[in-house]
Amino acid sequence: MIMIHRGNILSAILAIVLAVLASDGFAGHICKPCKRICRRERLSEKCKSICKLQQGFVCDGGCWKKCLNDASMPLKFALEPCLRKCTKSTDTSTPTSKCIPIDIAVIGGGIGGAYTAWKLKESKQSIHLFEYSNRIGGRVYSRKLPGIDYRMAEMGAMRYFPAVKTKEGTYGHVLVSNAIESLKLETMDFQDYSGDFKSNIQNNTFHLRGKHMKYNDLNSSKVPYNLYQDEVGKSPTQLRRKIYEASVPNPDSGDNKLDKDGIDLFKQRYDRIWRKYGGSMEAMEYISDASGFEFSEENAAINVPVAAGGSWDEIRFKSLKNGMSSLPMTMIEQFKESNPERHKVHMNHKLIRIERQGQNELLTFQKTTTNNYITSDTENQTTVCAKRVILALHKDALMEIDWQPFKNQDFIDYRLNAVFGQEFFEMYLGYEEPWWEGLGFTTGRAVSTLPVGQILYMGQGKPSSDIVLQDGNRKSMLLVNSGYPRASFWDDSFLNSQPHLATPQATDMLVSEYNISEAILVEAHNQIAEVHQLRPEELARPYTGVMHYWKGASIYSWKAGANLEIISKQMIKPFEDANVHIVGSCYSNSQWMEGALDSVEELLDRYYNQQNDTWI
Ligand SMILES: Cc1cc2nc3c(=O)[nH]c(=O)nc-3n(C[C@H](O)[C@H](O)[C@H](O)COP(=O)(O)OP(=O)(O)OC[C@H]3O[C@@H](n4cnc5c(N)ncnc54)[C@H](O)[C@@H]3O)c2cc1C
Ligand SMILES: *[C@@H]1O[C@H](CO)[C@@H](O)[C@H](O)[C@H]1NC(C)=O
Ligand SMILES: *[C@@H]1O[C@H](CO)[C@@H](O)[C@H](O)[C@H]1NC(C)=O
Ligand SMILES: *[C@@H]1O[C@H](CO)[C@@H](O)[C@H](O)[C@H]1NC(C)=O
Ligand SMILES: *[C@@H]1O[C@H](CO)[C@@H](O)[C@H](O)[C@H]1NC(C)=O
Ligand SMILES: *[C@@H]1O[C@H](CO)[C@@H](O)[C@H](O)[C@H]1NC(C)=O
Repeated sequence: MIMIHRGNILSAILAIVLAVLASDGFAGHICKPCKRICRRERLSEKCKSICKLQQGFVCDGGCWKKCLNDASMPLKFALEPCLRKCTKSTDTSTPTSKCIPIDIAVIGGGIGGAYTAWKLKESKQSIHLFEYSNRIGGRVYSRKLPGIDYRMAEMGAMRYFPAVKTKEGTYGHVLVSNAIESLKLETMDFQDYSGDFKSNIQNNTFHLRGKHMKYNDLNSSKVPYNLYQDEVGKSPTQLRRKIYEASVPNPDSGDNKLDKDGIDLFKQRYDRIWRKYGGSMEAMEYISDASGFEFSEENAAINVPVAAGGSWDEIRFKSLKNGMSSLPMTMIEQFKESNPERHKVHMNHKLIRIERQGQNELLTFQKTTTNNYITSDTENQTTVCAKRVILALHKDALMEIDWQPFKNQDFIDYRLNAVFGQEFFEMYLGYEEPWWEGLGFTTGRAVSTLPVGQILYMGQGKPSSDIVLQDGNRKSMLLVNSGYPRASFWDDSFLNSQPHLATPQATDMLVSEYNISEAILVEAHNQIAEVHQLRPEELARPYTGVMHYWKGASIYSWKAGANLEIISKQMIKPFEDANVHIVGSCYSNSQWMEGALDSVEELLDRYYNQQNDTWI
């Protein structure tokens, strides 16, 4: 008879669980069992005891990963022992005593990480960049549609404000503009601004609450919103301007920190300011619907000053002919070329853990694999030691990293959670010819409260007739671009337990993480037709297309209460005693690409001495 001491009971149970898993076809040294343990159906009593799962918690998503995303943060730490157990045992690589550190590990190959690497490319220090997927760019992501050579289909960032020099100073996306200039990338107008742009868009459609109007009607009494008397006849831009003037003490300065009551703008939600200074909720909904972006909950310090400017529809943006992703990709090429011995780029490496080891940080990476545009974990891990770590990541990526300082509840509540994310949907459809021009729409966008959201006429940045004459090719594309709460309308992935069954059925549809299925194409077409007051059968079928659903979070906003001027600086080096930095647009002063670059400049200004290539 075998005696089991009480203290051994847990380890005996653990052994049984591991044996069960191993017999299920998994060798003990690989990481997959972790995921398996985490499946709800396997979340037996035994597993619960290992994971110290909190009583009463219901895991409705089916697996731990979902639990982690959905659950309140404290639970994550309750699960910690489980995750640690599952990944720790697989770590068979570099023995930790032999850890020879690299100088700098840059985590994330988005524009923030790429810009960090590029700015430091002349450094004598060894710099390695690690990217989760097989793609540089992150939320800057360009795809090429067959037959369309004049520009790329931008699934993420699509435009920037070119820097404008005036007597008072330089405005716009200065860092982005400078980088583009020094990399000599070919720019183009984001849309056709030729002639009188404002009059070219005057007839563009605003299809709000089922009613068709024109851009020029936005300041008429025709709008289908029950506005207050003093709001009737004002365009969304004028409505925002009205609240701006009512709420800040000095509307002419453009630099108001307080509202008229003397309360910090950053402490207030935009819709609360809106109400306090006489705006109706209907007007709030109107400006949001007409902009195509839901911003009522945002920090007023961001939103109030925006109203000092003019109409968004009349801004002249720029884009890059070879795609916005040629910006981070060219940076990375130059980084690698400048010092192939010292500077390295590792694709398909996902940082999962940071642990202090003497003066260095030991980084554990899960290796990933990308197939058909979908990146998933492999069974392999690897570790790297670094003297300094630069996390060029957004909130949701940071929150997944197992690192002790990130577990401080105040840090979670007042730093990581100082921003919230919104999802986004992007779909490009390519047609044999720009049928919309026949209806009088040559540039700008149509806006709808249907789930298509905005429909942008993505021409060549100049009158298409200029180019048509060259070779008769009139192929053109439309962009459907839709934010919260309508973006998830287009998500079919939840329909199946194996989520990715949609297949392209039209000719030449591009394979993507989210394929355009026949059902999605038909529905998108019904809506595009409705917005343009056509019957669906009057609309030519696109010969190509591609879509991307930025599930969960993709565009971040500062929450009310977050002092973004302070937090954006603190996040650059969040903990005194760790040489770990956070850059990227997420916690910066701007959620545009410019913000990501700005955070890197802030990092280098404050912590890096370029003259003698040392850290401060
Ligand atoms: C739909 C959409 C439209 C937009 N339009 C514009 C626009 O027109 N103009 C504009 O200026 N901005 C726009 N933006 C915002 C802009 O794209 C972002 O601000 C910018 O690209 C963010 O760069 P980043 O480097 O901070 O983060 P990201 O681009 O998110 O980069 C993070 C990178 O880290 C990787 N990663 C994540 N986790 C890990 C890990 N654990 N280990 C290793 N790597 C990891 C990711 O794969 C990614 O490549 C848009 C964003 C979206 C989503
Ligand atoms: C807009 O519509 C009006 C009235 O139908 C028409 O006269 C005008 O030419 C149109 N403008 C453009 C740019 O198409
Ligand atoms: C709307 O604005 C345009 C100019 O921007 C102006 O010509 C027109 O009269 C305005 N309409 C109303 C109803 O105020
Ligand atoms: C994991 O590593 C082993 C040994 O290095 C290798 O043989 C195997 O192909 C790797 N698996 C994956 C999915 O990369
Ligand atoms: C997309 O379609 C391709 C080709 O049919 C297929 O191999 C792939 O699995 C599909 N992906 C998704 C996410 O549906
Ligand atoms: C070089 O770095 C040291 C600290 O490492 C600093 O004291 C010194 O001033 C720097 N020299 C220059 C020229 O910046």
